[in-house]
Amino acid sequence: MSGLAFDEIEGVDEEGLARLVDRFYAAVRADALIGPVFNDAIDDWPHHLDKLAAFWSSLMLTSGRYKGMPMAAHLKHRARITPAMFDRWLVLWREATEAEMPPAAARSMQAKAARIAESFKLALGSRALQGIG
Ligand code: HEM
Repeated sequence: MSGLAFDEIEGVDEEGLARLVDRFYAAVRADALIGPVFNDAIDDWPHHLDKLAAFWSSLMLTSGRYKGMPMAAHLKHRARITPAMFDRWLVLWREATEAEMPPAAARSMQAKAARIAESFKLALGSRALQGIG
């Protein structure tokens, strides 16, 4: 018995998630395709990094630390976000998770991000939502 809850994966803790989020957004900010969207939208980077660490903590450690509406946050920026940006986001996420996380955790976090990216992409591309945000 490992003592882990069902959906917890060994080697994931708050410190590691914070390190991962810092590394990932450093790469995002420096990226020519997606960096400008983030740099224009986010003024308070320490706050954004804390929020994203809380988001992944809720997903990976079921901590309930994240309280927010991620879909709405992206709909606000729908005029600037293109489908290709999601592919780039996921490449940078794969690199960061592989560098910072044990392999099983990295795979799980890549799969979760890919599913979320797909749902954001569908929502942002939906004609039914045009004019929102
Ligand atoms: C094309 C890819 C993406 C772009 C350009 C993007 C851009 C952004 C921007 C600009 C914000 C700040 C929103 C604001 O406060 O004005 C944001 C917030 C956020 N993003 Fe993304 N994002 C992308 C993909 C993703 C994916 C795939 C995930 C999850 C796996 C994600 C999770 C979040 C979360 C949790 C927040 C914080 C929402 C809140 O304020 O509670 N993003 N994103």
